[in-house]
Amino acid sequence: MVKFTQWIIALPLLASAQSVNTTVESRQNAFESIETLVDEAEDLLDSREVKWQKLLAVSTKLNVQGEIVLNAFPQGSHQNSRAKSRIWERWGHFESMMSQMDQGFKTLQKGSESQDARMALRGLETAADTCRDCHRSYRSFW
Ligand code: HEC
Repeated sequence: MVKFTQWIIALPLLASAQSVNTTVESRQNAFESIETLVDEAEDLLDSREVKWQKLLAVSTKLNVQGEIVLNAFPQGSHQNSRAKSRIWERWGHFESMMSQMDQGFKTLQKGSESQDARMALRGLETAADTCRDCHRSYRSFW
């Protein structure tokens, strides 16, 4: 027979496992969007006549998605995901890469607002430089 007290202990564990799954899903979705949006921003900046309104919209979205991933790595949320548990052993390093990405998105946005192609490109490159480095250290291959 299952004792009542065992249920009381098990319930919060179930609840937190579920919220971790939601967190993992939301950060994976956010990263998917980031990938698409970075491509869009690259194409827009590549063209001879930059469509600034479009670029501004894309950079605003990048900042929103960046903010989501920044807050989507609670301690130990590597189950059912490709995040390595090493993230939390080297949190300072992981976080600094993450904020470099966000900093890049912010610069991209500033550049888009002031229609400064150089600044926008610099921001985009700063952000894009972090993708592979971080994946190499903190994302598993499966
Ligand atoms: C600070 C580390 C870090 C940075 C920077 C980073 N990523 Fe990731 N990325 C991850 C981790 C960790 C995962 C695995 C997340 C998971 O499975 O929960 C991931 C997953 C992804 C995924 C797969 C989502 C899925 O459905 O599995 C894509 C696409 C992606 N990142 C694109 C990018 C792009 C594009 C950039 C750069 C603009 C970037 N990432 C920057 C750490 C990072």
